[in-house]
Amino acid sequence: MLNISACVFVLQYFDMGKIKKFVIGNWKMNPIDADSAIEIFSGVRGTAARAKETRTIIAPPFIFLNTLTRMGNDKNISFGAQNCYFEEKGAYTGEISPTMIKGMSADYCIIGHSERRSLGETNDIVNCKVRAALRNGLTVILCIGEAERDAEGVYLGFLETELREGLASVTKKQLPQLLIAYEPIWAIGKSAEKSCAPRDVHEMVILVRKVLKDIFRVNAALEVPVVYGGSVAAQNTEELVREGNVNGLLVGGASLVVANFCKIIEIVDAL
Ligand code: 13P
Repeated sequence: MLNISACVFVLQYFDMGKIKKFVIGNWKMNPIDADSAIEIFSGVRGTAARAKETRTIIAPPFIFLNTLTRMGNDKNISFGAQNCYFEEKGAYTGEISPTMIKGMSADYCIIGHSERRSLGETNDIVNCKVRAALRNGLTVILCIGEAERDAEGVYLGFLETELREGLASVTKKQLPQLLIAYEPIWAIGKSAEKSCAPRDVHEMVILVRKVLKDIFRVNAALEVPVVYGGSVAAQNTEELVREGNVNGLLVGGASLVVANFCKIIEIVDAL
């Protein structure tokens, strides 16, 4: 099993200066219509465009992606899909391919979100999607996260497996197209009691970097941005980023409330 504290010293002192900050809004299956999607995006875009140190990524439902990307490509703002399929085209009813996503001017794709894994997406499926998305020039936001924590640290092995299996056959050259999102399932959504404690987030960032270094054996693996998701709000943004040592946040519920999301972007950008 990985000894996290032993990795802290080595990894803390690597230069993370090249990594930009990210605020990603995962809208999930919201809002209910295109007009509301346009309204939310219109409310956020000015703040996001002004946040020069931060890349804001909007990941709406597929059906609104085209509408939003056509509204213009502001500086510092990108779009992402919440999922993709691993084939380019063909008889796959209901699926959307990475090529189609690229064709809608979206550059990012969230893959392996726990809400999709709970529908049966395995690490093998996640890996097929990751490789297909990368092959098609998308930047992948690979989500990992444990359902619960145990005193023995079994969850650490679980996270390592999610990373190793999710990234199987990904090449060193593809590292610049990768972000890792640590989203503990117990911290996600309205039913969660709280977000992960910032120092625990920091430990997980170290774990992710250690595993990436082990897999890829190049220092570039340490430059892969690691973001945190799970009950992010304006109130906990600063401590999560500062003490959690993440490169940004993956925001669910709060990304749908313009004032809250704008505040999160501003706080992250100012840090
Ligand atoms: P909440 O911010 O609503 O907890 O959702 C987190 C999440 O799942 C983002 O992908």
